Amino acid sequence: MLDPYEIRKDFPLLESRGIVYLDNAATSQKPIQVIEAIRRFYQAHNANIHRGLHALSREASEEYEEAHSVVARFINARSWREVVFVRNTTEAINLVAYSWAMDRLGSGDEIVVTVMEHHSNMLPWVAIAKRLGAKVKVVGLASDYMLDYDALSEALTERTRIIAVSHASNVLGTINDVKGIAALAHEVGAVCLVDGAQSVPHMPVNVRELGCDFLAFSGHKMLGPTGIGVLYGREDLLEEMSPFMYGGDMVREVRYRNGAVEPAWNDLPWKFEAGTPNIAGGIGLAEAVKYLERIGMENVRAHEVELTSYALKRLSEVEGLNLFGPSSPTSRCGIIPFNLDGLDPHSLAAMLDERKIAVRSGFHCAQPLHEYLGLKEGTARASFYIYNTREEVDLLSESLAEIAEMLRSA
Ligand SMILES: Cc1ncc(COP(=O)(O)O)c(C=O)c1O
Repeated sequence: MLDPYEIRKDFPLLESRGIVYLDNAATSQKPIQVIEAIRRFYQAHNANIHRGLHALSREASEEYEEAHSVVARFINARSWREVVFVRNTTEAINLVAYSWAMDRLGSGDEIVVTVMEHHSNMLPWVAIAKRLGAKVKVVGLASDYMLDYDALSEALTERTRIIAVSHASNVLGTINDVKGIAALAHEVGAVCLVDGAQSVPHMPVNVRELGCDFLAFSGHKMLGPTGIGVLYGREDLLEEMSPFMYGGDMVREVRYRNGAVEPAWNDLPWKFEAGTPNIAGGIGLAEAVKYLERIGMENVRAHEVELTSYALKRLSEVEGLNLFGPSSPTSRCGIIPFNLDGLDPHSLAAMLDERKIAVRSGFHCAQPLHEYLGLKEGTARASFYIYNTREEVDLLSESLAEIAEMLRSA
């Protein structure tokens, strides 16, 4: 089991600000090892990659390429060439929508998503479906905030081309059986894209074991810097796809013959990394992955299950507090949405902020889910990570009880 008190010592912001940081689903804090790796790069190795034969360019290229291997190992990809660095989960999903789906889907084809998707895994599909005359089918929930697997099976037809599903909901915390869903997709000849923004940082994720075709996630939610994210794609699929963006480095050669420009795309993953990439971001992400590997993802998950279980118990004791999401802590990740009777979620978050507790409020970029659940004003949301403690959960529940009491006596 990991020791959150030991881990906290690596996080300067947690040490210096004295804030109970429970907004980890939005972005995580960064350990000193990641901050140092970025500083070291800029201070000692900075150069552009793949464009120079000089020592600094070679060093930068090697470190950046090595970062792809580190990420490939972390998710058990077959090859580092299956790991494309992008800006974030959003860009990774848009890449698949515009590069894979745009060229392959036509009028009447079907895209299956779930009602619990983040806007990032909903709007790209809605947008391209509109352009192609394709249809987006949205699968709802069954009991206890779990995905309706019967409805999912029923939604699949011979016209289904892709199922795009979150591994873990960023609102309810619900963990979806993406292994089973990928198998269902393959049965009807579709592919499966997994939005791993809330799973890859928090539990072991093994793309070969899951059998998914694409996996998208963000570095900034897993101790890494902002501006770097990952698209994992099966190598044969990535090979067949056209580039998403065009420019430098994604092309091996560009011939100019008889007035015509003829490009030949670069090898994977560079074909999808046009222009100067976020080199320091990639190096920072690799350092974050190494940090998580040292702890062990099984231990990260065990800590969050334990903390979530404790939090569900403590928060359910607060009078007037409504909790959402699966009742079993093993069916959810460390995310707990809640509302307090008589107070809107934003005012609640502001009152917690006055007590130095950071939670998020609103729709969490998942407005369709809130509408589906009849939560018109949204929810407040606490989300945990490796450095959160039982003491912090106590502070949250005591503060909520105090606010509830204030409301009752007002
Ligand atoms: C499930 C899920 N998908 C996608 C995203 C989008 O991530 P990013 O803003 O890093 O692109 C988030 C971010 O909160 C998320 O939780």
